[in-house]
Amino acid sequence: MNPLKRLGCRRASVLGLLAATVLVTPGTATAAPDTPDTPDTVRASTLGAQAAQSGRYFGTAVAAGRLGDGTYTGILDREFNSVTPENEMKWDTTEPSRGSFNFGPGDQIVNRATSHGQRMRGHTLVWHSQLPGWVGSIRDANTLRGVMNNHITTLMNHYKGRIHSWDVVNEAFADGSSGQLRSSVFRDVLGNGFLEQAFRTARTADPAAKLCYNDYNIEDWNAAKTQGVYRMVRDFKARGVPIDCVGLQAHFGAGGPPGSFQTTLSSFAALGVDVQITELDIAQASPTAYANTVRACMNVTRCTGITVWGIRDSDSWRSGENPLLFDRNGNKKSAYNAALTTLGGTPATTRSAPDAAALPSRYSWSSSGPLIAPKPDSTHNIAGIKDPTVVQYNGKYHVFASTASSSGYNLVYLSFSDWSQAGSATHHYLDRTAIGSGYRAAPQVFYNAPQRLWYLVYQTGNASYSTNPDISNPNGWSAPRNFYSSMPDIIRQNIGSGYWVDMWVICDSANCYLFSSDDNGHLYRSQTTVGQFPNGFTNTVIALQDSKYALFEASNVYKVQDSNQYLLLVEAIGSDGRRYFRSWTTTSLAGSWTQLAASESNPFARANNVSFPAGSWTRDISHGEMIRAGYDQTLTIPSCRLQYLYQGVNPNAGGDYNLLPWRLGLLTQTNPTC
Ligand code: XIL
Repeated sequence: MNPLKRLGCRRASVLGLLAATVLVTPGTATAAPDTPDTPDTVRASTLGAQAAQSGRYFGTAVAAGRLGDGTYTGILDREFNSVTPENEMKWDTTEPSRGSFNFGPGDQIVNRATSHGQRMRGHTLVWHSQLPGWVGSIRDANTLRGVMNNHITTLMNHYKGRIHSWDVVNEAFADGSSGQLRSSVFRDVLGNGFLEQAFRTARTADPAAKLCYNDYNIEDWNAAKTQGVYRMVRDFKARGVPIDCVGLQAHFGAGGPPGSFQTTLSSFAALGVDVQITELDIAQASPTAYANTVRACMNVTRCTGITVWGIRDSDSWRSGENPLLFDRNGNKKSAYNAALTTLGGTPATTRSAPDAAALPSRYSWSSSGPLIAPKPDSTHNIAGIKDPTVVQYNGKYHVFASTASSSGYNLVYLSFSDWSQAGSATHHYLDRTAIGSGYRAAPQVFYNAPQRLWYLVYQTGNASYSTNPDISNPNGWSAPRNFYSSMPDIIRQNIGSGYWVDMWVICDSANCYLFSSDDNGHLYRSQTTVGQFPNGFTNTVIALQDSKYALFEASNVYKVQDSNQYLLLVEAIGSDGRRYFRSWTTTSLAGSWTQLAASESNPFARANNVSFPAGSWTRDISHGEMIRAGYDQTLTIPSCRLQYLYQGVNPNAGGDYNLLPWRLGLLTQTNPTC
């Protein structure tokens, strides 16, 4: 960001600033916004992306112990947008002895899924199996009821807001012809009413989560067990006992689903519950059997998602039967293509993930209205909120931004769980923390995974940073430290009358790079090793140069997920005086940059490729940040359906640049390529 006010040397409106520039082409009319491309329905080439086109998810069971396996996580993040912990939320793991809870393995899965934009199923709260001995030996009904309620409440509270559906009770019905509950400590000590008790307790604990009953061998409409579950759900709905979904595990033999499977799904749905296929695997994984299963779900509106029970055959609890979609080496099996095609997608033909050039060369976006505005208090008379940086972590968005006021720039922090709540989030002014008052602006936040520490990078005249072990604690930030002892020579030699601004750190597996701008047409890059970071930044070079307004400030550099591409965005000032973004790519952070969408007529993001369904509140698409796929120092972004949090301003506002009423809005890409 441009620190005009801090330096007290100039006052200019955005347009006033431009009036002086030679870049304003005489006679160029202010560009009228083009009609952005209509979002087209595309045929995606991954399971999750294709399922999402019909509002469904495609998930998998995940084992915490496999998260260190890159082939496994590569497929997980590429293909799946919902995750179920295979064993990590079961009672024997979460409460191995009475009142002593262990959330470590579950948290590992939930935190990872959240940071990769994957939704979570919770599995499972009350089940006779994988139940610790101390529960199974309780004989007193009041004791068991208390223990069960406490278990449900403690787990649901811990994961509140982060689980879309919970398997509240698992496998309570008996196999065979009875259609009754199976014998278990819960039924035997508490009676049949334990299910109702469990669901009522669950609703109270997390009213936002969908509450499911989950079972196997309930896929055949004619089975007594299916009918028993159906009667229970019908009874719950009739009496107002809370239940939102039925999970059909779908552990099938080689023949796949029974012929009546779709009837079963639609019959449950007709009771007013969602249905989900929760643990799909099919002995020998016949493509036809997978296609039939997926088709049944696609044909039932309230079938909201499919989860396969593992990724590769070698990950399966039935590994001897090779029942999954990927072979032991992680290759797609023919069942994979059948599942994807039945979802409506097209199997990728040429794509080889590590080399794919993932980004398209044209962009169109839809913008929200202003989502975040300043919240002045008695000591902070804020005019504009600017330069946001954002990560998703632990089920929340964490936003840091500059505050602009007549007394200069400082920083603010807010967090919220979804964008509809962004406007009501509390603003924590960071000048009250060790970060301190005075000139601090244009923050960038990331987690340094090797050091297990959050970094906030910002400009102070030097390139500065603070650290914090807990991103959600605004008071945890350390006092500012500088990356450089002074401005590197090459910047001093080229900065002219510009300003040294907008520091940005990104690391690959070996090195960290610090990019910065000079409001004078230069993008600089310094480097250090991952091991030395945050020290040792040297070798400062000009990474890219252009004329002053064509390469102004606010650079962002990202790694594109599942590709070898990096994306560079730099804010430019257009011929209409309005801010917009140009883009470049490279395959090496230390390499040279190739233009992607880098002109006013084919911009990365500019008023002419953004639609404003909520009203055209800004003509500037200015300093901001992408919603990342993760939160660590690699700054990884998804390759499609990008979202960009930016600053915009009422086009009629003028006067002192530092008192302009900047607000934050969110762009969502409308030309998805996934
Ligand atoms: C299985 C896991 O996949 C195994 O790793 C574990 O040893 C046993 O449980 N129904 C369920 C799942 O609801 O939790 C089970 O998962 C498979 C059957």
